[in-house]
Amino acid sequence: MSFKMRDGVLHADGVPLPKIAEVAGTPAYVYSATQLRASAAQFQAALAPIPCKQIMFAMKANPHPAVLRTLAGLGFGADIVSGGELKGALAAGIAAEGIVFSGVGKTSVELAMALDAGVGRFNLELEREGEVLSALSSARGMRAPALLRINPMVDAHTHAKISTALTDSKFGVPFTEAVSTYGKLAALPGLDLQGIAMHIGSQITDLAPLTAAVRRAGQLVSALRKEGHAITHVDLGGGLGVSYREEDPGADVVAYGLMVARETQGWDVSLLFEPGRFIVANAGVLLTRVLWVKPGQPHPFVIVDAAMNDLMRPALYDAWHEILAVRESSDSFIATVVGPICESGDTFARGRSIDRLQEADLAVFANAGAYGAAMASTYNARALAPEVWVDGDRFDIVSPLVEADVVRPQRLPHWMLEVG
Ligand code: LLP
Repeated sequence: MSFKMRDGVLHADGVPLPKIAEVAGTPAYVYSATQLRASAAQFQAALAPIPCKQIMFAMKANPHPAVLRTLAGLGFGADIVSGGELKGALAAGIAAEGIVFSGVGKTSVELAMALDAGVGRFNLELEREGEVLSALSSARGMRAPALLRINPMVDAHTHAKISTALTDSKFGVPFTEAVSTYGKLAALPGLDLQGIAMHIGSQITDLAPLTAAVRRAGQLVSALRKEGHAITHVDLGGGLGVSYREEDPGADVVAYGLMVARETQGWDVSLLFEPGRFIVANAGVLLTRVLWVKPGQPHPFVIVDAAMNDLMRPALYDAWHEILAVRESSDSFIATVVGPICESGDTFARGRSIDRLQEADLAVFANAGAYGAAMASTYNARALAPEVWVDGDRFDIVSPLVEADVVRPQRLPHWMLEVG
């Protein structure tokens, strides 16, 4: 972790967090470039036993251009899911050939944009999408490189809201229909169908479901080859989980790399990976200040200036983020930590033993670099929190605080403006 106590004060790399609070205010997301590079290198090293591969960062986890630029420099491509992400990836310096366009409901406008940009691969979710893409690319005299996303129907043993390969999931084509759908799509003139893709869920810490899914992909590769299809690429998606609390270790990424190398031996394909969380989760914290400590039953409430609009994960997935005092404390207490939003769901921790916090103290929500700022909203007309980039001893505010009315300017219907 690059967020460490030094002389009794929590630092991001070489910068004390109180300094950042002074300059950027709170709440604020703080990222450590050192940690980002370390996590990226850890993932790459774990995949070293796999001979032929491409790693595309799932930018939905954190689309900040500084994150993308750093990862582009390390050889990462990007997994995108919208026209907005396409623009962001290209602007940050990710090469178009290194982009894979995933997503359940791409519009024809987005498909056309991606074709014109020359993205490396389209992951198709259904037959109709393939027909539309084929027509668009034929009209341009092109053949779109594509993979068919299949649903391997494997329970990822993670939170229901981030499981994507159950029998009733909306993603991909059911395993049982994959060969017939693949055959139809392979016959389309505007598609260069190269293989299959899958992604079974997120925050997966148990390798068993991932292994089962890889095996299913292997069966399908054989079945498709028997039908005469040339399979050159298989996209194994993302999903590796990280440790959000000491007693829940994250996925063993080294074992994951070895498992994939072993299971895919002899497939003779290029493998694609789409990690999001693993790369960025540990590289960010949400810095917050205690507004009030309010007596409460059965525990006192610590009311902080960050809220569910800044970090939605606890409200949406009952997710756990460690809460640490920025100034080292030897004392702890049991408290319920909440934000200012007018919903009981705006609760970060209920009855948790944490460092003893007092009014005006700074604290952080740890491991908030993935799906933190990316999912923020302006609910309750709250501003979007600034983001701060730290690299060694330097830091910079890399996105300013944005007021809600700037994020989304709203106006009255013209007839309400008419006077008299
Ligand atoms: N590929 C596809 C097709 C995906 O849908 C996702 C994530 C990824 C890759 C990256 O998965 P990762 O490696 O980050 O697990 N907001 C939720 C997570 C939603 C994940 C959505 N898809 C959360 O905060 O836990």
